[in-house]
Amino acid sequence: MITIDDFDTYPDFPIEGILFYDIAPILASPERFREACVQLMPPSGAQVDVVAGVDARGFIFAPVVAQTLDVGMAMVRKKGKMPGDDLLESTAEIEYGARDLAVSASSVEGQHVLVIDDVLATGGTARAVAEMLERGGAASVRFSFLIEIGELPGRDVLEGYEVTSVVVV
Ligand code: PRP
Ligand code: MG
Repeated sequence: MITIDDFDTYPDFPIEGILFYDIAPILASPERFREACVQLMPPSGAQVDVVAGVDARGFIFAPVVAQTLDVGMAMVRKKGKMPGDDLLESTAEIEYGARDLAVSASSVEGQHVLVIDDVLATGGTARAVAEMLERGGAASVRFSFLIEIGELPGRDVLEGYEVTSVVVV
């Protein structure tokens, strides 16, 4: 089981007032890393056609889950990194500014999508991803996070979506 003790914490990073939960100790241990990926798996019976990883830290876990489920992976990238002319784009409002995201529409159209990221904080990123995927015709959108900051409104912001968090603090 992954617990809060598996994370390092850094007060006032990246800006004052934010307590940063660092996943580095989990990645440093093959057993912990493996366990984190197991716990990020969707509940049995959930339909998942593609796993979407959110740039950057979602990219660490999403491919492992996709391979385990034997489905493909889609990249939700930060602005300016995606080629092609079938891009869906969205702007997320987060604690320290705004963030532009993009995903290839063809990778999610008609698909049941599992979105994976390391942290659910304000929910701004995840909400923007969900809306972008739905605009692109995703059949459904669900989420798995490694850590959820319970005092922030992320869970409410994602009302109506299936949300699984490995650790809630
Ligand atoms: C962090 C984290 C989540 C997001 C959560 O990403 O990895 O993606 O913020 O915050 P929210 O719920 O308030 O939107 P960030 O872009 O800061 O860093 P990264 O590029 O290392 O993933
Ligand atoms: Mg991130």
